Amino acid sequence: MKKILVQLDSDLQPSVFDRVVAIDAGADDVFAYGNVQPDQVEGLVHGAIFTRGPKDLKNTAVFIGGRDVDAGQKLLDRVTKTFFGPIRVSSMIDCNGSNTTAAAAVLAAGRHVDLSKATVVVFGGTGPVGQRVSELVASSGGTVRITSRDLERAEEVANVLREHVKGDGKIEAHETASRSGKLAALKGVQVVFAAGAAGARFLTEKEWSGIEGFRVAVDLNAVPPTGLEGIDLQDKGQERHGVICYGALGVGGLKMKIHRTAIGRMFETNDRVYDVRAIFELGRELGV
Ligand SMILES: NC(=O)c1ccc[n+]([C@@H]2O[C@H](COP(=O)([O-])OP(=O)(O)OC[C@H]3O[C@@H](n4cnc5c(N)ncnc54)[C@H](OP(=O)(O)O)[C@@H]3O)[C@@H](O)[C@H]2O)c1
Repeated sequence: MKKILVQLDSDLQPSVFDRVVAIDAGADDVFAYGNVQPDQVEGLVHGAIFTRGPKDLKNTAVFIGGRDVDAGQKLLDRVTKTFFGPIRVSSMIDCNGSNTTAAAAVLAAGRHVDLSKATVVVFGGTGPVGQRVSELVASSGGTVRITSRDLERAEEVANVLREHVKGDGKIEAHETASRSGKLAALKGVQVVFAAGAAGARFLTEKEWSGIEGFRVAVDLNAVPPTGLEGIDLQDKGQERHGVICYGALGVGGLKMKIHRTAIGRMFETNDRVYDVRAIFELGRELGV
């Protein structure tokens, strides 16, 4: 029986990237829908769950994408609400690659530092990737400093995460538009994630190489300039100025492995839900 992935995307045009990865990961066909609204989900999911017998439902799965993480979460909630008893299919959410990228980034940093005891700065912490990185670190018990050029925006995201994250992790909001704000965010930090938009440079090499106690830098910006000057896109555990560095391509391999494996695993059973935590656990299980 053919493996069909139903791609529900909140963007007008469903992501080509997500479709290519799906095919490479073993889907025989991808039915991609764009501009999907929550009230349209039930009908689309009915089409997926009522067409094959319960034993064959593992050959159908749902993938949720799109730039807007909140819109994606609403779609996932509607998808899982539509299921009942054994009449369900596996599903995964990875809006703009945020969950797989954040999982790969946090797993990379966690190889070198115990994140449950670390103080971590997330530059660009209000974006999809930064929010997921913050959530994963806070869930592990670490202290997370979410930064934005705008303190109110950082606080909004921090408040949402505080409600959402169970665990002992402390979540702080910082602005980085001013030099004093940036210095306050970096005080006593062991790990920095740079998750800003393309072109956003947060620190010069001189600034970050002088931070006392700084152990790991993960720069997710694949489009030059990097968020932290001096980090190479290919860095994968490279030591620079006593700091272990990862660049976007250094993390990207692991991200892709997690993404492909999750797609493949969805077709093994009809009841998996790959949200950010499950995707992180999958990355951990892959031993990387
Ligand atoms: N390596 C990989 O496999 C991989 C996969 C996916 C994404 N990525 C990369 O990960 C990064 C984060 O992705 P995303 O989708 O979360 O990014 P995003 O939403 O485009 O941007 C993240 C945050 O950057 C801040 N920002 C925007 N312009 C800025 C500027 N000029 N200076 C300083 N801050 C600025 C914004 O925060 P405020 O407005 O609140 O300041 C924004 O919320 C991107 O560089 C993306 O290319 C890498």
